[in-house]
Amino acid sequence: MTAFELNDARRIPAVGFGTYQLRPGRITKSAVSGALAAGYRHIDTATIYGNEQDVGAAIRESGIAREDIWVTTKLWNGDHGDPLKALETSLTKLGLDHVDLWLMHWPTAQRLKSWDTMVRARDERLATSIGVSNFLVPHLTELAQHSEVTPAVDQIELSPFLLGTRADTVRYCRDRGIAIEAYSPLTQGARLRHPVLVRIADGLGVSTAQVLLRWCLQHGFITLPRSSNPDRIRANLELDGFALSPADMRELDDLDEGLTTGWDPSTAS
Ligand SMILES: NC(=O)c1ccc[n+]([C@@H]2O[C@H](COP(=O)([O-])OP(=O)(O)OC[C@H]3O[C@@H](n4cnc5c(N)ncnc54)[C@H](OP(=O)(O)O)[C@@H]3O)[C@@H](O)[C@H]2O)c1
Repeated sequence: MTAFELNDARRIPAVGFGTYQLRPGRITKSAVSGALAAGYRHIDTATIYGNEQDVGAAIRESGIAREDIWVTTKLWNGDHGDPLKALETSLTKLGLDHVDLWLMHWPTAQRLKSWDTMVRARDERLATSIGVSNFLVPHLTELAQHSEVTPAVDQIELSPFLLGTRADTVRYCRDRGIAIEAYSPLTQGARLRHPVLVRIADGLGVSTAQVLLRWCLQHGFITLPRSSNPDRIRANLELDGFALSPADMRELDDLDEGLTTGWDPSTAS
């Protein structure tokens, strides 16, 4: 599986399995088990998803060695009063002694103080890598002025339909070695029938979802597709047998329409 190197020298599997909106209990456990069986070795969860316990159970029952699975969780907005306690709760639910990546889910007002605590958690090996999510250039610039520790990752929404709008954040991260994780890479389904995508996908004999995921990899973005359907879980990992041409990439890059499918961090001051 393709992996990208982070600025802390760790290697992260470039395709992670997203678990947002996977209902806690049987649905999450079966989806994550299916993903691990299909070959995913990177699971993206968060405190707010309410499914860390099921993610942990699926990991344990998979029999795959802990060090072979990359696990990400996130500090929720309501937990900035005591971030370490929140991480310990996440670890208990996951049944793990550390996560591979702990992200600040959103740039809340307490973000700088919380970042310092996240650095301590990394130093104590409770999280091997630390990063942020939904940080745009103003938030990243402020953080760089505050702390000597650069986030390993910024997880932001990204698809061809948002790339132009986020171009400054992408450039900022590239210039400073911050890896970008593209969340909602399938636009939560909203643009999977876009005519340009359909034409490119048909020409390559793949699905429009595979085109969107391959677009991420060719840009060097870690990508986090989510599915609860076993066939789609497998297909979303089959990205090595085809390539987008430079012309395909340019055409996709031009599809920007400022599409955010969930929250929009440009509203976070
Ligand atoms: N940091 C943040 O603020 C943040 C925000 C949002 C998401 N995320 C992370 O990013 C992950 C992915 O984003 P997301 O969950 O918002 O949405 P997404 O992955 O863009 O889209 C998921 C939707 O696409 C459908 N789908 C999946 N594969 C498909 C395929 N091959 N063909 C057709 N439809 C397909 C799924 O339906 P089926 O289940 O029926 O296949 C589901 O409805 C999340 O799960 C989460 O881990 C992070």
